[in-house]
Amino acid sequence: MNPSSLRSLLDQWEGEGKLIRIKKEVDPLFELGAVLNSRQGSQPFYFEKVKGYSSPMAGGIGGDRDLLAASIGITPDEFVPKIIGSIVSPIPTRLIEKGPVQENVVLGPMDLASLFPIPTYHGEDSGAYYVSGILVVKDPSGRKRYTSIRRMQFLGGNRTNVLITSPELLHQFYTFEERDEPLEVAVMFGVVPAVVLSSQISTHLYHADKLDVAGALIGKPFEVVRCKTVDLEVLAEAEIVMEGRIIPHEREMEGPFGELAGFYGARAPQPVIEFSAVTYRNHAICQTIFPSSYEERLPMALVREATLLSTVRQTVPNVKRVHITMGGVARFHAVIQIEKRSDGDGKQAALAAFASDKDLKHVIVVDEDVDIFDPEDVEWAMAVRVQADQDIFIVPGAKGSPLESSHNVRGVTAKMGIDATVPLAHKESFKRTSVPFGPIDLKDYI
Ligand SMILES: Cc1cc2nc3c(=O)[nH]c(=O)nc-3n(C[C@H](O)[C@H](O)[C@H](O)COP(=O)(O)O)c2cc1C
Repeated sequence: MNPSSLRSLLDQWEGEGKLIRIKKEVDPLFELGAVLNSRQGSQPFYFEKVKGYSSPMAGGIGGDRDLLAASIGITPDEFVPKIIGSIVSPIPTRLIEKGPVQENVVLGPMDLASLFPIPTYHGEDSGAYYVSGILVVKDPSGRKRYTSIRRMQFLGGNRTNVLITSPELLHQFYTFEERDEPLEVAVMFGVVPAVVLSSQISTHLYHADKLDVAGALIGKPFEVVRCKTVDLEVLAEAEIVMEGRIIPHEREMEGPFGELAGFYGARAPQPVIEFSAVTYRNHAICQTIFPSSYEERLPMALVREATLLSTVRQTVPNVKRVHITMGGVARFHAVIQIEKRSDGDGKQAALAAFASDKDLKHVIVVDEDVDIFDPEDVEWAMAVRVQADQDIFIVPGAKGSPLESSHNVRGVTAKMGIDATVPLAHKESFKRTSVPFGPIDLKDYI
């Protein structure tokens, strides 16, 4: 059974020897993040003692492909069909009267920093940040519910900023602001990886209720309870929920902050949230995600892989698998594997990829005998199957991503497609060597 609560998942991983308990006290100022980052956010950690606080903190929960897949009961090969299937056939949440997340209720105005740790991550960050909370909102009609993750800089007392870059949610906030009304929000901490993964599904593409999609990912409905001070529902088994309102016509300076691509984002005025309640389970477990680590990048990459495969398949039906790489910041690089049937397939697949996602910069297309999840194998294909004057195309001056400095200094981005597939007429000359024996277990030979 796939766990629906963070604490049952942590228990399971502890039993399987996958969780590392950090017994030494860690300082939320840099030290906790440094430990998380020592494994690039791909190792589940449980920090028993966070300096100045009685609550433990978990991190590195969703940064490993194998573990994330296991948490939803699939193998890593099954992510794309599972994500698409869950968007198409979501499992609606079930509303219940009472849930553990409301075992303790603190009504505002409160001092957020006195309740749970708020870590600081990078040397030049402007302060302490909440970086992993799942923000729940309803659209202006009050009928649609969306989740996403938005970093929140702690401003003191019961206030934070919120950084919203998605046009859809910004539009929603501005709609409320024009009416001089606040936008109600709830922010959930201490959730299973399925909830983080589904939060990354693009609202403007799918308009899915992402908590229902999360239910389909784990194969059963998530239970939700009504919030105490806002008209929203939150996961009954979340560890901590902060309820509040984004205040109209109010901005406070935010940043700099070390962002997804490993650079500092600029300082700018951002909207402000005032929190009206914090609810939490008995013995609540806090949760964080180290910014720019695998744990931030992987859910984004997996959701993009699902969209990419569907789009490329429209014009290249013989596409097999796609990989949005971690080194390419989960959005700039794609490796596409095809079963090549005609000589134009390679470049066509790269073109289709660029059409599917404006952030993509470099796309490499390879044959079926190349392991797209092994960077060395992909490099090998580029080394022995690519002639730069024939197999590479560059489109200058296209739209790019503001998350990337080389784009920002120019305002536009060049797109490069690399066709590393073999010319069909010369397939025999490219045949890979193989050894018709094995697999070898060295123990049998020593
Ligand atoms: C760990 C993590 C942190 C994120 N931080 C932010 C953020 O601070 N601001 C933001 O706009 N998007 C952030 N994102 C990306 C959004 O959550 C993502 O674009 C969104 O959920 C996609 O859905 P949407 O189309 O509804 O915006 C973050 C994603 C992750 C995984």
